[in-house]
Amino acid sequence: MQVIIKENYDEMSKEAAQIIRDAIHLKPNLVLGLATGSTPVGTYKELIRMYEEGELDFSKVVTFNLDEYVGLPPNHDQSYHYFMHDKLFNHININPANVHVPSGIAKDFAKYCQWYEDEIKKAGGIDLQVLGIGSDGHIGFNEPGTSLASRTSLVTLTEETIRDNSRFFEKEEDVPRFAITMGVGTIMEAKCCLLLANGEKKADPVSVLVEGPITSQVTASALQMHPNAIVIVDKAAASKLKRVDYYKWAYENRPRF
Ligand code: F6R
Repeated sequence: MQVIIKENYDEMSKEAAQIIRDAIHLKPNLVLGLATGSTPVGTYKELIRMYEEGELDFSKVVTFNLDEYVGLPPNHDQSYHYFMHDKLFNHININPANVHVPSGIAKDFAKYCQWYEDEIKKAGGIDLQVLGIGSDGHIGFNEPGTSLASRTSLVTLTEETIRDNSRFFEKEEDVPRFAITMGVGTIMEAKCCLLLANGEKKADPVSVLVEGPITSQVTASALQMHPNAIVIVDKAAASKLKRVDYYKWAYENRPRF
């Protein structure tokens, strides 16, 4: 696991956008896994800037989002479908046919989840998966206790996640109780995972993700078993890591050959 510690949110976002840009330059038809939430918004802004300045072409990029709230139609302003269009897709030259955000209103969720998994496979698998981390250590909506081998499925959110996400809704009661999410096993099949975290609230889950035991109680810790995981954190999110000096040293002295 490569741990990159940045001064602040802006630096974290720029570093992440550069990694995504380089991946698209290497493979213009990159299969890119995307996350919602506050954390990647700065990265998406930076990607839009790169597109506007002619540094990036998304015309062949294929995207798969991690998750969606159950019960919210795509045009609901709190749906992840709406969020992704508002924060990224409406501002770049992505082909709408290449965009995949799970549906929160499928008729048969079991069938739909299998279809989503099949679509990822058909696209050749995810090359680069962007991730955030919940204050309870989740990736996607894989809450504490989820099998680290889980696949795309319908899940129940924890009260902590509902509270955390109520900041986007008028009242806590409006936050959906269920979501559809790629599983930990699905995420682990991405060729590269790029997890971003900022702020003090993420210091505890980040310390387990990077240095704690691998446990289904912090599903992000499964990334310790991933052969190519990059974790970019700001100083506040890194504040509970024990081996900060080594991570900085290893980053400054990373092999460039
Ligand atoms: C969102 C997702 C979640 C978030 C996590 C952090 O698609 O999969 O795992 O990444 O809840 O959310 P923020 O960034 O709002 O702190």
